[in-house]
Amino acid sequence: MRIPEWMLFLRSWLRHPRRVGALAPSGPALAALITAHIPRGGASVIELGAGTGVFTRALLARGVASDRLVLVEADPAFANALRHQFPALRIMQMDAAQLGMTGDFFGGERAHVIVSGLPLVAMPVEQAVAIVHCAFARHLAAGGAFYQFTYVPRRPIPARYLEAMRLRAVRVGIAWMNFPPAFVYRFERRFDAAGHQRPGTRPLSEVVAQATSSTSLDTTRFSRTPSLDSSGAGQSTDGSPSS
Ligand SMILES: C[S@@+](CC[C@H](N)C(=O)[O-])C[C@H]1O[C@@H](n2cnc3c(N)ncnc32)[C@H](O)[C@@H]1O
Repeated sequence: MRIPEWMLFLRSWLRHPRRVGALAPSGPALAALITAHIPRGGASVIELGAGTGVFTRALLARGVASDRLVLVEADPAFANALRHQFPALRIMQMDAAQLGMTGDFFGGERAHVIVSGLPLVAMPVEQAVAIVHCAFARHLAAGGAFYQFTYVPRRPIPARYLEAMRLRAVRVGIAWMNFPPAFVYRFERRFDAAGHQRPGTRPLSEVVAQATSSTSLDTTRFSRTPSLDSSGAGQSTDGSPSS
């Protein structure tokens, strides 16, 4: 029997309020805004923090093909419900901070877009930086974009970290009809006139090393935690299928 969406959300929120990071699932206005710039036809998309599947439904309605959409969700109850709701999709039950430990999700191709419902602002900034860095370094194609919503009217990652990662954040719009109203940002690589990624003010490796080592991120844990997909045969940390 399918658990009503609000009950599933409430149960996960009561267990892990910080990880869920919202009082209610996103509404249709936010789902429409965060998916509005996804090219129709052929885009490969990774959704981070899929929750009850509000953005997933909008992505499918926009024409993203089932074999071009991968969901990443840490919460086992959400992940199970997503498997029932979207049996044709690949669902990775894993911490998005493990993105640097997996291979690409599309058989040798990188994703065009990442859509994120992760509560980046509520995370330690080191964790948020590690996730965004790994998303670009490992998963997004050259012109790829990372869409993120936030309830606070500022970049979800502080400017100095974005600079160091050679990224920029562009505000895409505001979903006033969401509860609460939400801002959507797009992270994208910064290129100079010659098409090279603009150098940051500090070496990227330094910033990311500092970001991932200084606080609560236990990176040793990741190597012992293979990610699981919906079939139970996940990928090992080097990206090859695990047995
Ligand atoms: C604010 S809810 C958004 C859910 C849904 N996308 C929506 O907009 O209604 C955040 C979601 O991110 C998931 N999440 C939080 N931290 C995560 C992490 N480190 N890795 C993967 N998923 C995470 C939570 O379990 C939850 O489903």
